[in-house]
Amino acid sequence: MSHIERLPRNRTYLMCPPEHFTVEYTINPWMDITTKVDAGLALTQWQSLKDTLTGLGHVVHVLDPRPELPDMVYSANGAFSVDGTVYGARFRYPQRADEAVAHEAFYRTGDAWRFVAPQHVNEGEGDFAYLPAAYGGIVLAGYGFRTEPAAHAEAQEVLGRPVISLKLVDPAFYHLDTALAALDDRHVTYYPGAFSPASQRVLAQLFPDAVLADRADAEAFGLNLVSDGRHVILNTEATAMGHKVRDAGYLPVHVDLSELKRGGGSVKCAVAELRS
Ligand code: ARG
Repeated sequence: MSHIERLPRNRTYLMCPPEHFTVEYTINPWMDITTKVDAGLALTQWQSLKDTLTGLGHVVHVLDPRPELPDMVYSANGAFSVDGTVYGARFRYPQRADEAVAHEAFYRTGDAWRFVAPQHVNEGEGDFAYLPAAYGGIVLAGYGFRTEPAAHAEAQEVLGRPVISLKLVDPAFYHLDTALAALDDRHVTYYPGAFSPASQRVLAQLFPDAVLADRADAEAFGLNLVSDGRHVILNTEATAMGHKVRDAGYLPVHVDLSELKRGGGSVKCAVAELRS
């Protein structure tokens, strides 16, 4: 049990409503095209996630959904920003390619952001996490299923932060954000089994005090969480994970995102953090 006071920091997020959400192709093991999704329920659940974030005092921007882009609700994949610089996404699969264009247009509106278009395949915050207070500010980056290792080096050049490459080895946890999450500016939680043995050693070395999750937590999408440093928003199914973050001094806030899980995502996938 932790006695540390975990303090929240106000955040700005980008979300996209699942108005056109369907599962009509399979690009990860969770996607089953034979069972129909309930788009109405997906939208209601998405709205409660958005209300939860705004209720905690955070700002949520909304991206217009496009009918031909059913995965657009997973806005985390559209880009990765650090200190006002945005490293654009380039999707692995053609079905999602145009989402990057919609995100780019968002960042290029006004002059708040320095947008850098990528050369290499990378799926934004799906495979990149930022810890502003760990080692002076480091990026954790996943590869193995979606993002190319070459994009890790590219992100380091664009963002000017050390990028630690981590190899994902379990297809069920195909994006970094299904296997690891930042709990605050310096602490992480992760499921070791999603990573190669060498990457597990890297994580253990960098984060000896990490909250360790197990396979059941990861399968409940309990690591696909959004934290403001105090409140940890996670899927309702992830009850055991809720206890683990509570024991570490955070406040779990459960939100039901059962429909979005059918596309292979949960809370974090549906929320991009905008770091200005
Ligand atoms: N159906 C989407 C895909 O496979 C889900 C993306 C989930 N997003 C995430 N950040 N893990 O690309």
